[in-house]
Amino acid sequence: MRAMARTIKLAPLREDHIKAIVEIERQSHGCPWSDQSFRNELGHRHACFRVALDGAEVVGYGGLWLIVDEAHVTTVTVKPDRRREGIGRRLVETLLDEARQRGAVCATLEVRAGNEAAIGLYESFGFVRSGVRKGYYPDNQEDALVMWLHDLRT
Ligand SMILES: CC(C)(COP(=O)(O)OP(=O)(O)OC[C@H]1O[C@@H](n2cnc3c(N)ncnc32)[C@H](O)[C@@H]1OP(=O)(O)O)[C@@H](O)C(=O)NCCC(=O)NCCS
Repeated sequence: MRAMARTIKLAPLREDHIKAIVEIERQSHGCPWSDQSFRNELGHRHACFRVALDGAEVVGYGGLWLIVDEAHVTTVTVKPDRRREGIGRRLVETLLDEARQRGAVCATLEVRAGNEAAIGLYESFGFVRSGVRKGYYPDNQEDALVMWLHDLRT
């Protein structure tokens, strides 16, 4: 872990994090989640959502849904000026640990086919490219890569 990432704490999502999250979301995604989408994660029995905090400042967030024994990663996002500090890696590591503890045996996600940063991050955890959803993203019709981590238990 890099020096900067060590000062970051990961905490469960709280309502007062959402304003900052929505701002990072708007800066980071072509199809941003709404304020309400994040609120829905708060009370979702099958969701796990973690916020990366530097002191009180939100610097990233990530979530997954547990569907039977599969973990579906829904988002991993780091504040633009805090990327390449190891925060994304901490978020994925923590989410997968949580999924494991809650009985998941495998994990999956969708990612834009051109998103090399995210693909590199997921591959470093053992996710492999398993399929393509053509024209999946409505803002620019970019393809989605479907990735799977087939055995979460190792
Ligand atoms: C993808 C994202 C979450 C990575 O977060 P990050 O905190 O910058 O990532 P880390 O510093 O933990 O890097 C972890 C690994 O990811 C990969 N990676 C991260 N940024 C990269 C880049 N710009 N180019 C290539 N690989 C990159 C590398 O494998 C890196 O490992 P390394 O540093 O040992 O080479 C961040 O770029 C982001 O928020 N992007 C916009 C939102 C997004 O696309 N989310 C993913 C889809 S939901």
